[in-house]
Amino acid sequence: MIERKLMLVSGNANRPLAAAIAKKLGIELIPATVGEFADGETQVKIDQDIRGGDVFVIQSTSPPVNQNLMELLIMIDALKRASAERITAVIPYFGYSRQDRKDQPRVPITAKLAANLITTARADRVLTLDLHAHQIQGFFDIPLDHLYAVNQLVTYLKRRHLRNPVIASADVGGVKMARRFAAYIGADLAVVDKRRIDSRQTEVMNILGEVAGRDVLIVDDICATGGSLVEAAAALRKVGARKVYAAVSHGLLVDDALTKIESSVLEELWITDSVFLPKSKRTPKIKVISIAQLLAEAVKRIHHDRSISALFKH
Ligand code: R5P
Repeated sequence: MIERKLMLVSGNANRPLAAAIAKKLGIELIPATVGEFADGETQVKIDQDIRGGDVFVIQSTSPPVNQNLMELLIMIDALKRASAERITAVIPYFGYSRQDRKDQPRVPITAKLAANLITTARADRVLTLDLHAHQIQGFFDIPLDHLYAVNQLVTYLKRRHLRNPVIASADVGGVKMARRFAAYIGADLAVVDKRRIDSRQTEVMNILGEVAGRDVLIVDDICATGGSLVEAAAALRKVGARKVYAAVSHGLLVDDALTKIESSVLEELWITDSVFLPKSKRTPKIKVISIAQLLAEAVKRIHHDRSISALFKH
């Protein structure tokens, strides 16, 4: 039997993460030119023979979302036409995921559309992390492996020695994620009952659970404008929480998120490196926890047709 060669290639969304994954796997990234034509069209050229390869293309569809999504699609097309044997789209952060249902008249379901585009480009599989909603897995008609950053974030949490900790879900939809964190450290659960006013503003309606005098860790999948976290932290302090921390899988940190977080009551915000955070956006309050090892292990297991469920054990 011919063994397919493991190959990694990266778009521009998060090259440091791709390089870290390659390093953990002890291989070099396949060189690829991913740029733009003068008119703004994405230009891709895979600069090495990849015929017959088991190729993993690493690209979060993070801001600039449209550009990064197009890069991913065009890279998959280039790899397919260059005779890759199998293509796995490694999407640490899957953008367009928040529009995942038709909850108002005349709105799209962009998560399904993005899944269709990736499938139509002819990816064979998808590897992703902490999807906004679990049902998005079903939007793909190809195999999808879904990882969780909980292990990495909880390892960090344990080092912080929170006093009588409570894990708070940032909204009702995030309870499942919060429960997973709580189970890891045997902590109690609280829920922030949040109402979204518009795409940039939220309002906290209620806090469910006992938080007075205790350290609270808010968990969420995404921090975009920072509005949800900052509002939630303020509401938790108002009802007596001692210190409030936050752990978020995908730190998009758009608009004035940094200013909001810096001037908020949050002690610290822990995010993963699923989305590239430039030096200019790093502040002492923001701690970046790498998921390179988790993704490298998952890539290795997929390549060798081994189960990845062992990665979820704690
Ligand atoms: C919403 O359902 C998500 O889980 C996040 O809470 C939300 O995307 C955060 O957005 P922002 O930081 O803009 O409030």
